[in-house]
Amino acid sequence: MIEINKLKKYYGKELVIDEVSLSVKAGEIFAIVGHSGAGKSTLLRCINALEDYQNGSLKVFGKEISQVAKNARELRNLRKDIGMIFQHFALMSRKNVFENVAMPLQIHGFKKDEIDKRVKELLEMVGLEQKAKSYPNELSGGQKQRVAIARALALKPKILLSDEATSALDPNTTKNILELIKKINKELGISVVLVTHEMEVVKEIASKAVLLDHGHIIGSGEIHELFLKPNAKMQEFLGENDFLPQTGVNIKLFFPKEVAQHSVITSMARALNIDFNIVWGKIEKLNDIALGNLVINVAEKDKEKVLDFIQKSGVLWEVA
Ligand SMILES: Nc1ncnc2c1ncn2[C@@H]1O[C@H](COP(=O)(O)OP(=O)(O)O)[C@@H](O)[C@H]1O
Ligand SMILES: [Mg+2]
Repeated sequence: MIEINKLKKYYGKELVIDEVSLSVKAGEIFAIVGHSGAGKSTLLRCINALEDYQNGSLKVFGKEISQVAKNARELRNLRKDIGMIFQHFALMSRKNVFENVAMPLQIHGFKKDEIDKRVKELLEMVGLEQKAKSYPNELSGGQKQRVAIARALALKPKILLSDEATSALDPNTTKNILELIKKINKELGISVVLVTHEMEVVKEIASKAVLLDHGHIIGSGEIHELFLKPNAKMQEFLGENDFLPQTGVNIKLFFPKEVAQHSVITSMARALNIDFNIVWGKIEKLNDIALGNLVINVAEKDKEKVLDFIQKSGVLWEVA
């Protein structure tokens, strides 16, 4: 549905997208993750031709976007198929909720009764049917984003682009908005490409992700792969290696969901009669699947028997 191949984009002389290749399939929730300035927004804006690019290929529904951008009618159709939401909502402050959501429909020449019906449906879907007459400044951040989502879906797009849509919201509201995006993805079959600097967002909703750094991709894959066995760059991004002891051997354990995580560790201590330190551990909830991650520090002399025991237990491991 979206095929990007060796894409390059410059702002003046500065290369901000550097040979990016990725592919988003219909029905996916695909995350573009990275620190501020990595090029996430720029990449996203290339997808709906808000930005141009200089090299490589970017196809949406099989059409090269640089070509689509040259043809007003095709561009209009592309934009109709791609809705977008933003960090700061981008609502019209002088228009009420109904009017904000109705805007794209008016621009596309829908009749008044069609508009009324569609806006009502949309406001119901985002849970704001009671707020049709309210103005943006009378709404909470979460409610504003719901209005923006309703507006983005007005023309029944096939793709929703989300640029840090939850970054201005508190954790609870973030969760609710992510739930809504999930629902839209599932029930309406709309593919979602979301940009975020928050790992929590990715873990909560995405099925695949790329990690973008200074305009190039430094990690990519299915979410559970990325988090279960992060590559060195990903670990750096997650800040996981900051606390490793300098002595002994650090062993990182990955517990797939079918392994009961607690007993492996305690029974190892008993069976081998050794001491070890737990450096850090966490359980990640990825798309409703729980995955465990634990780093233990063992004495050099115990390394071989510990690794042997772990190997037999079915827990994945690597020496950190
Ligand atoms: N309109 C612009 N003109 C010039 N440089 C820009 C423009 N927009 C973004 N940049 C630069 O491009 C790089 C990527 O920016 P951006 O895509 O906004 O990153 P992110 O969304 O990951 O924070 C940054 O170095 C930024 O300064
Ligand atoms: Mg950005």
